[in-house]
Amino acid sequence: MESDRNTDGAGLSPPFVVLAVGAGIAAYKAVEVCRQLVDAGVHVAPVLTERTLRFVGKTTFDALGSEPAQMSLWDEASPIPHTRLGQAADVVVVAPATADLLARYAAGMADDLVTTTLVATAAPVVVCPAMHTEMWEHPAVQANLALLRSRGVVVVDPEDGRLAGGDVGSGRLADPSVIVSTVLSVLAESTRGTPLAGRRVVVTAGGTREPIDPVRYLSNRSSGKQGHALAEAARSRGAAVTLITTVPASAPSGVEVVPVATAAEMEEAVLSAAPSADCVIMAAAVADFRPRVAADQKLHKSDGLPELVLEPTNDILAELGRRRLAEQVLVGFAAETEEMEARALAKMRAKGVQVMVANDVSAEGVGFNHDTNAVTIYGADGTVKLVKMTSKAVVSGHILDKVQELLPDR
Ligand code: C5P
Repeated sequence: MESDRNTDGAGLSPPFVVLAVGAGIAAYKAVEVCRQLVDAGVHVAPVLTERTLRFVGKTTFDALGSEPAQMSLWDEASPIPHTRLGQAADVVVVAPATADLLARYAAGMADDLVTTTLVATAAPVVVCPAMHTEMWEHPAVQANLALLRSRGVVVVDPEDGRLAGGDVGSGRLADPSVIVSTVLSVLAESTRGTPLAGRRVVVTAGGTREPIDPVRYLSNRSSGKQGHALAEAARSRGAAVTLITTVPASAPSGVEVVPVATAAEMEEAVLSAAPSADCVIMAAAVADFRPRVAADQKLHKSDGLPELVLEPTNDILAELGRRRLAEQVLVGFAAETEEMEARALAKMRAKGVQVMVANDVSAEGVGFNHDTNAVTIYGADGTVKLVKMTSKAVVSGHILDKVQELLPDR
């Protein structure tokens, strides 16, 4: 359909983003999201709910957006605004997404301009939840998000930090710059086409769990989020993706999921999938050592302190490096707390991989269990790319750009 976008001098329409602002305290940060998107050359159509006006004024969005903010389904100038917005949108972003808005979207309800636009659009949708920790952790909210994720909705998870009323916890809206970079990356993905069509990509994710007895294990802080974001990004670029993960419950849709728990199970799954893969990305945090024996029965404290004897696990990535097929691209991760560059480069050489993604896990907001990451991507061909703090989806895009550069032309 015809949209009323502005065109640039070359006659090209700028990307069109609907910015739906939910009724939460964090609505003031949506003003900054609006401004940064417009600065990035995006046409922003703000949409507010009646209750959003309890937190921010419409005039602010009228002034900063690319067109006046809209609130009503019953606009005489444009009798069906939700279908116009839904069809014109290249991306719809909801920031902040309240628990109520997420529930109504997940249920397919459509009783105001925000929800009707969400249901009317075929464009990618990015939701940025923000709410109090108790609400964020409620099973209903998490179930709604899982459902939305399974439908391909991109979720920019909230941060930990100070909340309204002085409480501290998770639920604070992600930083506007993280939301903006995610929207820009989703826009880029949607116009990129499918550069990995016909390619097979294997991704590992999560921390392995090494049993001590039937109820206890040794593990690490990995959440699997970076690996899952990579699997999702590779899928949206057209690859056939096998995701070998210790956290299958949060796996993205549209990929083959192989659930594993231990390093040995992961090794078996990876080595059997690798021979047909164009690219293997080892984003998992594989245990370096495990208990030599796992007790058959639960160890009881009445039996005294057990002695844990450890043994090394096999280095899966190093084994992949030894078995690497010509033209296969191997990607490793190096989580470091000091001497990041030297250690990452040494690992790249020692393990025979083509791309090493290094992150300083001691920095705030980086690595384990965060939704944001800041990495340096080293190529065995000598390239170095610094990716500043952003969402794991955006980091995934940069890693895949490097993989694509190294894959041979077909
Ligand atoms: O040597 P380090 O554990 O820091 O290397 C990290 C990289 O090696 C990650 O890509 C990780 O998935 C991989 N790795 C592995 N097998 C192990 C240990 C690490 O594949 N046993």
